[in-house]
Amino acid sequence: MLLSALLFVSWFSTSLAVNFDWEDVQLTQAETANYSAIRFAGQGADPPAQECRYIPGDKAWPSDAEWIKFNETLGGALLRPLPLASVCYDGPNYNSVRCGQLKNSWISMNIHTEDPISVMSQWSTGSSCVATSNPNSTCTQGGYPVYVVNATTVRQVQIAVNFARNQNIRLVVKNSGHDFNGRSVGGGALSVWVHNLKGLNYHANYTSSNYSGQAVVYGGGFQAQDAYLPMWLYNITFLVAGGPGVGIAGGFLQGAGHSTYTSYYGLAADHVLSIQVVTAHGKFITLNAKQNPDLFWAIRGGGGGNWGIVTSVVVKAFPVTPIASGVITFGTLPRSGSNSTGVSEDNFWEGMRAYWETAVAIVDAGGLGYSFIRHRKSGNATGIEFTVTISLPNRLVSDYRNITRPLLIKLQSLGFPVTIPKVKRYYVPSPDSDPNAAIDALMPNHVQPRAIGDVTGNTLIASRLWPRTNFETPEALDEMNAAIRDAISTSGGGYTFHGMNYGPSLKVSGYPNNAVNPAFRNTLMHAQGYEADAWWDTTSPVVPFPTLKERHDRLQSYMQKWRDITPGGGSYINEGDAQSPVWQAEFWGSKYGRLVGIKRKWDPWGVFFSISTPGSEAWEVRSSSGGGYDGIYTQDGRLCRVY
Ligand SMILES: Cc1cc2nc3c(=O)[nH]c(=O)nc-3n(C[C@H](O)[C@H](O)[C@H](O)COP(=O)(O)OP(=O)(O)OC[C@H]3O[C@@H](n4cnc5c(N)ncnc54)[C@H](O)[C@@H]3O)c2cc1C
Ligand SMILES: *[C@@H]1O[C@H](CO)[C@@H](O)[C@H](O)[C@H]1NC(C)=O
Ligand SMILES: *[C@@H]1O[C@H](CO)[C@@H](O)[C@H](O)[C@H]1NC(C)=O
Ligand SMILES: *[C@@H]1O[C@H](CO)[C@@H](O)[C@H](O)[C@H]1NC(C)=O
Ligand SMILES: *[C@@H]1O[C@H](CO)[C@@H](O)[C@H](O)[C@H]1NC(C)=O
Ligand SMILES: *[C@@H]1O[C@H](CO)[C@@H](O)[C@H](O)[C@H]1NC(C)=O
Ligand SMILES: *[C@@H]1O[C@H](CO)[C@@H](O)[C@H](O)[C@H]1NC(C)=O
Ligand SMILES: *[C@@H]1O[C@H](CO)[C@@H](O)[C@H](O)[C@H]1NC(C)=O
Ligand SMILES: *[C@@H]1O[C@H](CO)[C@@H](O)[C@H](O)[C@H]1NC(C)=O
Ligand SMILES: *[C@@H]1O[C@H](CO)[C@@H](O)[C@H](O)[C@H]1NC(C)=O
Ligand SMILES: *[C@@H]1O[C@H](CO)[C@@H](O)[C@H](O)[C@H]1NC(C)=O
Repeated sequence: MLLSALLFVSWFSTSLAVNFDWEDVQLTQAETANYSAIRFAGQGADPPAQECRYIPGDKAWPSDAEWIKFNETLGGALLRPLPLASVCYDGPNYNSVRCGQLKNSWISMNIHTEDPISVMSQWSTGSSCVATSNPNSTCTQGGYPVYVVNATTVRQVQIAVNFARNQNIRLVVKNSGHDFNGRSVGGGALSVWVHNLKGLNYHANYTSSNYSGQAVVYGGGFQAQDAYLPMWLYNITFLVAGGPGVGIAGGFLQGAGHSTYTSYYGLAADHVLSIQVVTAHGKFITLNAKQNPDLFWAIRGGGGGNWGIVTSVVVKAFPVTPIASGVITFGTLPRSGSNSTGVSEDNFWEGMRAYWETAVAIVDAGGLGYSFIRHRKSGNATGIEFTVTISLPNRLVSDYRNITRPLLIKLQSLGFPVTIPKVKRYYVPSPDSDPNAAIDALMPNHVQPRAIGDVTGNTLIASRLWPRTNFETPEALDEMNAAIRDAISTSGGGYTFHGMNYGPSLKVSGYPNNAVNPAFRNTLMHAQGYEADAWWDTTSPVVPFPTLKERHDRLQSYMQKWRDITPGGGSYINEGDAQSPVWQAEFWGSKYGRLVGIKRKWDPWGVFFSISTPGSEAWEVRSSSGGGYDGIYTQDGRLCRVY
């Protein structure tokens, strides 16, 4: 045992670069001497491999006394939260007033982010406890974790990882709960809630083997909205998500991370200099170009929740990079108060085709076209509407006008009432600018109500990264336009479209060497389809498909048509369908095999399981009581090895 411990220690590159005081609080080997449940891997505490993780009720599930001891060792940071909506159900927690408030505010993502276990995609929990009006229905823990470590030090993260591994308990990691596919929940699990690992430090001249210049380091629980003030204070720009509540060290950066600057600087994963992480062994180590480079490669693009628990990240900071930005909208319904009869759907799709041509110019100018196609209602009339926010980093308003003029001329000729878009140059952020304007520029969806933060959805989603070739010939444009029309129009799929025209080519991204899906490098559009009635867009037609399986099959049937005409395309793990039949190829292409090898080396136990990330096909969620598998996987069951 001693020998294996020694070998184990020397296997890592161990020189540490601690970024925050709370990273200095670490678990020592001495502390584990009299408490075998929290020993590091290689210290002889690993249980024999079991087919399934233990869950409450199993004989081997830790006793209450063991949980109390665990909590004491954590300094009292252990929580045992009930689902938020438990106040809506008959029982000791019932509170009709609280339940009413919850129902009214449910769409505000902030309440789910501030809760240790609540998440956006409730379907992934098995919808086991929803804000109901019927207190007689049942609320169960379902896919929500049983215990949560509210981590504020590295030591607590290490203790949690070791405990889960040694006790054969499922481990999950949650920050904001924004994941679309349920990656931050797990039935019967112990969760590490990284949300309170906050903080940011600025380095005027950070120097590493590959870089010398401005950088910032932020904590593992940092969110996009936490970046607005430091960007303003230090007069810098760095890459954050458009959704203010999105955690930027977790799914975002580990999955790719697109922003307003994607065609100009590349993806968030492309600008990471160093990462502090607690591995499946319980070790706290540094990942960068020199130290543990294989895991450093994998975690930048290989997906959230699968490689380790990130406690802090060092990323490049750029000079303040202003943006020229404005919104263009057209739709089939007449403007309110006008006598016109509106515009035909055929003309609408001709307008869309003209937009796709404009998208090439937007991306080639280093810009982003951030768009939605939504179903609309006005009185008894239904229609369809396109809205795009076009943002051009380091460009002038005149560039915006030049790029969009051909589109506006075409829209005019198709009978749309064209108004000249209001375009502003946002200095993101500078001391003499309106801080709110700066925030607007970072949130590409300017129209979203800022006060409530992100708006939750509870939708199945699927997406495709469309290669540039789909935009290059009139025939390809026609074919693409027809396939999108088929998925979106009410006579077809009736889905809501959310598209981003961008091009993080290797060139604009600085030739990064990381695990990001190669399909990003020649894409001109990340196009998502989601169920219209399951987002804030409540006026859209409700698609009455009862089971998750039927809903999923239907969505996939439209996605297949997109796949058929996008050879070489792929899909974005963070905003795609984790249960696509071809997720490995879609999310990682040629990089998948190498990723699985790195996963096996660094986490042979499968301590970290995150649905549809490399190596996860070795596991599935099972349940005897109807949870887990409903034609697609939900997280309300027991995690078991398939092989
Ligand atoms: C409203 C909205 C706006 C969005 N905008 C953008 C955007 O502009 N650009 C973009 O690229 N994506 C965007 N996304 C997608 C977003 O990147 C993903 O939802 C992402 O997974 C969110 O990460 P999170 O850590 O905040 O969420 P969580 O659901 O808490 O976690 C997501 C995954 O990351 C893991 N994880 C979280 N923190 C850590 C950590 N510290 N260490 C290890 N694993 C961790 C979790 O285990 C889970 O697997 C948006 C999503 C929504 C809902
Ligand atoms: C383990 O021993 C240390 C002293 O070496 C003591 O402080 C600690 O309380 C003991 N822990 C347990 C769980 O017995
Ligand atoms: C853990 O200990 C703290 C402090 O004593 C206590 O407040 C908390 O309720 C305990 N957690 C659990 C799950 O019992
Ligand atoms: C709940 O059940 C009780 C007893 O059967 C019944 O009186 C009550 O009307 C039910 N409430 C609702 C909202 O269905
Ligand atoms: C989590 O820990 C932080 C920091 O100690 C504390 O402020 C917060 O209240 C805790 N959250 C919960 C839900 O206990
Ligand atoms: C930054 O540090 C490097 C290495 O120490 C040094 O060569 C360089 O001159 C410094 N740059 C600035 C702007 O201070
Ligand atoms: C560091 O730079 C070298 C040489 O430019 C390059 O080959 C290597 O991929 C870079 N490493 C990382 C992690 O970016
Ligand atoms: C902020 O940075 C920009 C770009 O580097 C520079 O032009 C400007 O002078 C800086 N402003 C301040 C107040 O330092
Ligand atoms: C709409 O029609 C009415 C009656 O024909 C007319 O008075 C009004 O000016 C028209 N409004 C517009 C905006 O054209
Ligand atoms: C909408 O339809 C209803 C029922 O057919 C009809 O009574 C009503 O007048 C219509 N409203 C408008 C604005 O056309
Ligand atoms: C205007 O846009 C066209 C088409 O994208 C481009 O060829 C031209 O160079 C642009 N002109 C200016 C002055 O930017």
